[in-house]
Amino acid sequence: MPENPAPRKRLLSGMQPTGTGALHLGNLEGALRSWVRLQDQYEMFCFIADWHSLTTRYEETEKIAPACREVAADYIAAGLDPSKCAIFIQSHVKEHAELHLLLSMITPVGWLERVPTYKEKRELMQERGGGDESVSYGLLGYPCLQTADILVYRAHAVPVGKDQAAHLEISREIARRFNRLFGNVFPEPQTVLMEGAAVVPGLDGRKMSKSYGNAIYLADGPDAVADKVKNAFTTPTKIRKTDPGIPEHCVVCQLRRLYDPDGYKASWDEDIAGERGCMQNKKELAEVLNTVLEPMRSRRQELLADPAELERILQNGAERARAAASDTLSLVREAMHLR
Ligand code: TRP
Repeated sequence: MPENPAPRKRLLSGMQPTGTGALHLGNLEGALRSWVRLQDQYEMFCFIADWHSLTTRYEETEKIAPACREVAADYIAAGLDPSKCAIFIQSHVKEHAELHLLLSMITPVGWLERVPTYKEKRELMQERGGGDESVSYGLLGYPCLQTADILVYRAHAVPVGKDQAAHLEISREIARRFNRLFGNVFPEPQTVLMEGAAVVPGLDGRKMSKSYGNAIYLADGPDAVADKVKNAFTTPTKIRKTDPGIPEHCVVCQLRRLYDPDGYKASWDEDIAGERGCMQNKKELAEVLNTVLEPMRSRRQELLADPAELERILQNGAERARAAASDTLSLVREAMHLR
């Protein structure tokens, strides 16, 4: 008999479903590709934070469940393997809510008020015309719920981008506070740097983001990709084919390098030399992108065409998550003398 290998450390990752849920190239390069690598190194839990989306979208709740299925399909299409990592929806594992409630009792309001994303989201909600009453207790508690998501698995590691760094810091502080008050239950979750994560430029040259309307989605069909690329920003000073391009200032050239690392060089040289028009550049980029996206696109279509299979995957993920989470809650109730 081979010896049992050391148990793998636990890692938790997740995203909030926004809009229709569809993920874009920025999500793919900024997170999913790293997650796919990490699923072989860690015992991984990968979830979709539907409760978190209620913090800003409580008026359109009917869109959240379908958006979660889109996210799940994109996770799997990008290469997350449900047999290696538990893929599930946050609200299917009620232990997140119980732990959130308990942690909320020991989380100072001042810590939450200082989180930069809270200030930003407050302003956003107010700009949308909701006034003070659109800023809920739940929005203030966002990082506390996020802490519960992590600690409920006693996760050692969380892969996050820069935008989530403040949330992870508060998670560590809450874990420390709990451990000090009630005994050592939680490891302090560490940030896992996402190696090689690329920032993907959006079609307008800003960072690719759903809210900027400048994204290419894993769900986009070949024609949608070609149309979007046609409208992408190129070197502003290149009007005619013979004008020299500046690939660093051209979204099309940047995406070409990212998705055609072995073949982009000649096209860049021609662009710089004024030997290549933007039309040709765009046509070729659309082909490159469609070749990369095609397998993911068809995988996500397959999954969404078989809702029963997707539900089975999510139920199975939730069961595995629940098993781990309920062990933690037993320890927590014990430590807090709740019985
Ligand atoms: N805040 C994350 C986002 O906006 C989603 C999230 C919720 C999360 N809970 C988490 C991420 C726990 C990592 C760990 O996408």
